[in-house]
Amino acid sequence: MKFFIDTANLDQIKEAEELGILDGVTTNPSLMAKEGITGKENIIQHYVDICNIVNGDVSAEVIATDLEGMIREGEELAKLHKNIVVKIPMIKDGIKALKYFSNKGIKTNCTLVFSAGQALLAAKAGATYVSPFIGRLDDVSYDGIELIEQIRLIYDNYMFDTQILAASVRHTMHVIKCAEVGADVMTGPLSSIVGLLKHPLTDNGLAQFLADYAKGNS
Ligand code: E4P
Repeated sequence: MKFFIDTANLDQIKEAEELGILDGVTTNPSLMAKEGITGKENIIQHYVDICNIVNGDVSAEVIATDLEGMIREGEELAKLHKNIVVKIPMIKDGIKALKYFSNKGIKTNCTLVFSAGQALLAAKAGATYVSPFIGRLDDVSYDGIELIEQIRLIYDNYMFDTQILAASVRHTMHVIKCAEVGADVMTGPLSSIVGLLKHPLTDNGLAQFLADYAKGNS
């Protein structure tokens, strides 16, 4: 399973990259705003900065919601760096845009997916990635992991190439469950990645090993 980090914070992206297990980055307009990145030029520069840190796919979201606008913005974004993946919302013109970019060999990530039917449409349109938002489903009492399972089954039935990018991951158990049910990628905050490291028995065990070594070598 690929690990993407879901942030526009350059320090956190660097920290995850330095671990050596980072495969890519996802961003969205809210994450950009959270870092205080506003204005087209600054946003574009920020995408380039992210691409210069990570050797992997970086999702950059279009703001337009009409086909012509999405194509214009998506083409501009795709020219920034070879790692850019154009992030397109799951709306009617978005499906057309996914098909357009797929025909041109430009990578896409279909975002704001909340149902199996939407995921089926994204795959039919040739999306590179589909992003079901599991945390936001859990927030409203739908089972996000169950949706990943459903999409996995459908994609496997028809051998769709679209990769399931489990998005809106909030914590380590989401990561583990996504791995169990066969998500191709997960994207979450840095805490959901580094949290996987933690186990009290590891810490206790290491402390004991070091203490015993110190006793025998003092
Ligand atoms: C996906 O690409 C989105 O950026 C993201 O995962 C949304 O997560 P949230 O529900 O925690 O905002």
